[in-house]
Amino acid sequence: MTSKILVIGAGGQIGVELTEKLRDIYGKDNVIASDIKASNEKLVFSGPFEILDAMGYEAIKTCVKKYHVDTVYLMAAMLSATSEKHPELAWQLNTNSLFNVLNLAKDGYIKHIFWPSSIAVFGPNTPKNNAEQHTIMEPTTVYGISKQMGERWCEYYHNNYDVDVRSLRYPGIISWKNPPGGGTTDYAIDIYHEALKNEQYTCFLNEHTELPMMFMDDAIDATVKLMQTKSEKLSIRSSYNISAISFTPKQISESIKKVLPNFSINYKPDFRQKIADSWPKSINDSVAKTDWGWKHEFNLDDITNEMLDQLSKQI
Ligand SMILES: NC(=O)c1ccc[n+]([C@@H]2O[C@H](COP(=O)([O-])OP(=O)(O)OC[C@H]3O[C@@H](n4cnc5c(N)ncnc54)[C@H](O)[C@@H]3O)[C@@H](O)[C@H]2O)c1
Repeated sequence: MTSKILVIGAGGQIGVELTEKLRDIYGKDNVIASDIKASNEKLVFSGPFEILDAMGYEAIKTCVKKYHVDTVYLMAAMLSATSEKHPELAWQLNTNSLFNVLNLAKDGYIKHIFWPSSIAVFGPNTPKNNAEQHTIMEPTTVYGISKQMGERWCEYYHNNYDVDVRSLRYPGIISWKNPPGGGTTDYAIDIYHEALKNEQYTCFLNEHTELPMMFMDDAIDATVKLMQTKSEKLSIRSSYNISAISFTPKQISESIKKVLPNFSINYKPDFRQKIADSWPKSINDSVAKTDWGWKHEFNLDDITNEMLDQLSKQI
């Protein structure tokens, strides 16, 4: 029987593009999109779609049985900046949803799980440059704590219940198709919109804040590649470091100025500065490279050209 995939939180920044890609690869009827709300029309009408709350074990189980799902991509979560405003809700959503999916595998209803972690698992005591796969991890944000806990439970369920769960520590993801969901790296998307509309951007991080980032196409490729890798090649069952590029707001503004010479930026750091300051500047992804051949394609100027090109067509 063909493998059936359920994407939970499919209407988000990453979920929409991930679902599109999975439908291209595995066939539209084999990929069930779901979300707590039907906000993306294209997603809803391009294949099976269900309204589904990631917090409900029984509801997910019913959906899994209805479509004979064997693989779940759990993309529903509350992101870093929003989580700081709603710590308890963030904790509940980010942890309960993962437990539900891990338990569905433990209970024998599904076989494979993808769940994204984040560079937010690192904290202020992690070495700032080239943060290793295994290093000091003392996150100081609710979001980071929830992701670190998730990683520990993924590894535990793999080791003790033989659950095939796989994970990536995504950096800030840059894309043009769908709006970002309330993260600390969202400035690196907003800046392109404002550059095209007003030739000016006020950044909520200071000019020297260097953070790890990645273009959406690379993030989706990494996800698909990890899930297609033979189980025995995977040495990490918590979550893999993956890296593409690191840059500051000043550097992204310089990249934009190469295309839009009149563009200008100023800086008005807010509460998100503190979150950004707790994260590393760059990530060492050598284990992902060795285990499953990870490699990124898009560098900063490639991203700038693609973002400005695609967004100008939308505007
Ligand atoms: N976007 C990034 O830069 C980034 C970076 C690191 C990690 N991640 C992780 O990747 C995953 C996807 O991120 P994203 O940027 O697409 O997030 P997003 O906020 O854009 O999308 C999340 C989706 O989950 C849905 N959702 C919320 N509560 C739900 C619930 N109870 N049940 C079902 N669906 C619910 C929302 O409606 C939304 O469509 C998350 O786990 C996030 O932590 C994202």
